[in-house]
Amino acid sequence: MSAARLLVCVGPNCDARGRGRALLAEVQAALAATFPDELADGRLKLSTRDCLRLCTRDPVVRIEPSGDAFSDPEIDDLMSEIAVALK
Ligand code: FES
Repeated sequence: MSAARLLVCVGPNCDARGRGRALLAEVQAALAATFPDELADGRLKLSTRDCLRLCTRDPVVRIEPSGDAFSDPEIDDLMSEIAVALK
């Protein structure tokens, strides 16, 4: 079992019009529903960043340690990527 960290950018470009924080809230809810054990035992962590230097017009998230980044991801797709990262 691996560990993973999800970084959600809430910087000035990603959070333009509040979209970064809206995505953060969606991600928090989905993680709590999908990976409660992994969050509880610390194998999965969620953090925010003020800029991931990947600015686009859409909010950006990155999974570590892979470094895979996603712009305005579908939540289900993101949960699948995290499941792979935790394998
Ligand atoms: S503000 Fe989010 S990547 Fe730059």
